Amino acid sequence: MTATKRTYDRLAILYDLDDAMFFGLKQMWRKKIIDDLNVEKGQFILDIATGTGRAAKILSKRAEHAQIVAIDFSKSMMDIARIRNWNRDNIAFILCDAAHLPFKDGIFDAASCMCGMDTVDDPGGVISEATRVLKKKKRFGMMYFRKPKGWVKYIFAPLMKYYNIVWKTGYVDLSTIIAGQPLTIIKNRDLILADALVVEKK
Ligand SMILES: C[S@@+](CC[C@H](N)C(=O)[O-])C[C@H]1O[C@@H](n2cnc3c(N)ncnc32)[C@H](O)[C@@H]1O
Repeated sequence: MTATKRTYDRLAILYDLDDAMFFGLKQMWRKKIIDDLNVEKGQFILDIATGTGRAAKILSKRAEHAQIVAIDFSKSMMDIARIRNWNRDNIAFILCDAAHLPFKDGIFDAASCMCGMDTVDDPGGVISEATRVLKKKKRFGMMYFRKPKGWVKYIFAPLMKYYNIVWKTGYVDLSTIIAGQPLTIIKNRDLILADALVVEKK
């Protein structure tokens, strides 16, 4: 078991407090990136590192009659995701490692990973797996925290320090990983405290 998995299993009950600590920004960002995915009804959509299931819920509401598959390796986080989404019957929850997805190639119409790429131990493996399971010309949206710069660091540096320590996050540069995959960058959003990338499979 990795230290990351242990952390999320132990502290899952506290995770949603973060959304309040970030003044609702995280939820606003999730919605923005999901908008960029152009999800449509009837699609088959993957939410990677779903955590407590907030992005899965947005996806399930946006894409009527879609099937959402929400994966995470922490059972405690997923238990909360199941409770949050108790009344949404188009979400299937699967406990697994994002770097070893138990799915066939090219089956998903869209994929998301919100506040996840800065947490996973092997971002290269996760992006490679997300690319593998995505259909051609379909989109993968990622949102992840970045090191606070400029005036932002005076306000948010202590909060980010807390976030990094408690939730075992780090700052990642995904450009080299993405360049090594059959992906085109469609959108690169500057969210001040976070970066968001929307890529399309070639
Ligand atoms: C910061 S939380 C993000 C949760 C959610 N996506 C959100 O928008 O709030 C990171 C999640 O990634 C999960 N995670 C980390 N590494 C993982 C891996 N290798 N495979 C699957 N889940 C992983 C953790 O269990 C945790 O639920």
